[in-house]
Amino acid sequence: MDGTGKIAIASDHAGVDLKDRIVKCLQGLGQPVEDLGTNNQDSVDYPDYGLQVAQAVSEGTVERGILICGTGIGMSIVANKFPGVRAALCQDLFTAEVSRRHNDANVLVLGGRVLEGKMALEIVQRWLATGFDGGRHARRLAKIEAIEKNMRQKNIPRGK
Ligand code: RB5
Repeated sequence: MDGTGKIAIASDHAGVDLKDRIVKCLQGLGQPVEDLGTNNQDSVDYPDYGLQVAQAVSEGTVERGILICGTGIGMSIVANKFPGVRAALCQDLFTAEVSRRHNDANVLVLGGRVLEGKMALEIVQRWLATGFDGGRHARRLAKIEAIEKNMRQKNIPRGK
């Protein structure tokens, strides 16, 4: 990303400290970022926060999203329910880079109870700076889009 596309970020209570660090880091880099909570350590339900970022990415009101919960697993499950969202749970620089180059991941998911803060910030920066390779990977993403389209069509109630 060139710094112009907006990022939405959210976490549950288990990811709030890391989220706040990431927000500060991104603001310091001049990256527009919309913080959708949570804002303290009070226990919350991760789907309530995951859906806000995933919906914004799915509807195109932001370019990309970042989600954090304890493991990153719950947020990944939520985010990947949304059409057009390709959420990637990354725990190192390799998966962060390849999630962009091969999967064109538009949501980065992190585990606040898994990652050490400095590594998490490096992952975020690598993920934001890496582009999509296209080519054979674009063909594979088109197949995922086709799956989504078929699933949507199957949900249309009969007789309508
Ligand atoms: C909250 O305790 C924890 O379950 C949540 O942050 C996340 O790890 C779920 O996948």
